[in-house]
Amino acid sequence: MPEAIIHVDRISKTFVSKVRKKGHREKKAVAALKDVSLDIFDGEVFGLLGPNGAGKTTLIKCLTTLLLPTSGTASINGFDVLKDDAQVRASIGCMLMGDRGLYWKLTGRENLDYFGALYHVPRDARRKRIEDLVALLKLDEFVDRTVETYSSGQKMILAFAKALINDAPILFLDEPTVTMDVPTARELRHIVKELNRQGKTIVYTTHLMHEAEELCNRVGIIDHGEIIALGSPAELKTSVVHEDVVSMEGVFPDASVGRLRSIAGVREVAVATEASGLMKLDVMCDDSRALLPRIIEAATGNGAAIEYIKPKEVTLEDVFIAKTGRTLSVDTRVLGEREAPRRGG
Ligand SMILES: Nc1ncnc2c1ncn2[C@@H]1O[C@H](COP(=O)(O)OP(=O)(O)OP(=O)(O)O)[C@@H](O)[C@H]1O
Ligand SMILES: [Mg+2]
Repeated sequence: MPEAIIHVDRISKTFVSKVRKKGHREKKAVAALKDVSLDIFDGEVFGLLGPNGAGKTTLIKCLTTLLLPTSGTASINGFDVLKDDAQVRASIGCMLMGDRGLYWKLTGRENLDYFGALYHVPRDARRKRIEDLVALLKLDEFVDRTVETYSSGQKMILAFAKALINDAPILFLDEPTVTMDVPTARELRHIVKELNRQGKTIVYTTHLMHEAEELCNRVGIIDHGEIIALGSPAELKTSVVHEDVVSMEGVFPDASVGRLRSIAGVREVAVATEASGLMKLDVMCDDSRALLPRIIEAATGNGAAIEYIKPKEVTLEDVFIAKTGRTLSVDTRVLGEREAPRRGG
């Protein structure tokens, strides 16, 4: 069993805020985290996946000493977030959504130098580190301008560089690709993978299930302040649905259906006739990607004609739907990321 480098021990966080309604004031408590316990292992990319308001940022803030939990505690790299906050901060690099914590009147380079000094990186090492980051993240075009002139994506990239300035073993990245364009987001994910290969442990929050699937060794799905599912993407997917479905439409003689049913790994073939007169076959199987060539081969021949074929694999979205009855992706930011590729053709 690998070692837990982050150990979260029954953390709860309740915010009490003032509510104003029709001239009437009262206090309202929001339970943002409810008794969350979690181990994150040395060397993994751990994804915290959940919709808006789930508690992702609150958990990251509690783990990075920016917020005091209402109850419970956590240890990071062996240090207690409540008692050893200086050592915890020395062990982590952090990029938070919302507050990017950059100085707008300073240039990007000056920001990095300032935060490097704050983390006690010696001057020469700092200069070298900044040069490396400028090259790695392609900052040269804007690093010597004041941050107030940056686009929102450029601010995000600088915030990412800031998280890397002290070369800490543990990185917390809170929705780092929000407001990045599609190629930049892809590049960031690529760098995250590379940093992980170099040995860094990474905690990555997102509400984009494709990011979680692509990057993470394990994912915790969080909803209403609770971890509702935990495991590798593959484990989570098999925990809710055991089958993929390949949907086909066309003309299929009985022999095709018989051949499909006899493929090892095919569990069931549902046959229906569409209003158009075409047949619709739903082939339930273990692994649609692996079986697709055999499915096509079995379906064709004897005058069969496939008009349409679509394999549907189980996704983390399906896991979320199965656990909550809601979808993850009701969010304009998701639409932005999905629609962007179409603009380029
Ligand atoms: N300072 C605060 N005062 C009152 N309520 C708060 C405060 N900060 C967060 N909350 C509430 O706590 C809950 C969890 O918020 P949090 O920011 O952790 O969600 P999130 O998962 O990061 O969401 P998002 O995807 O939108 O960033 C929300 O209901 C939010 O409104
Ligand atoms: Mg958040």
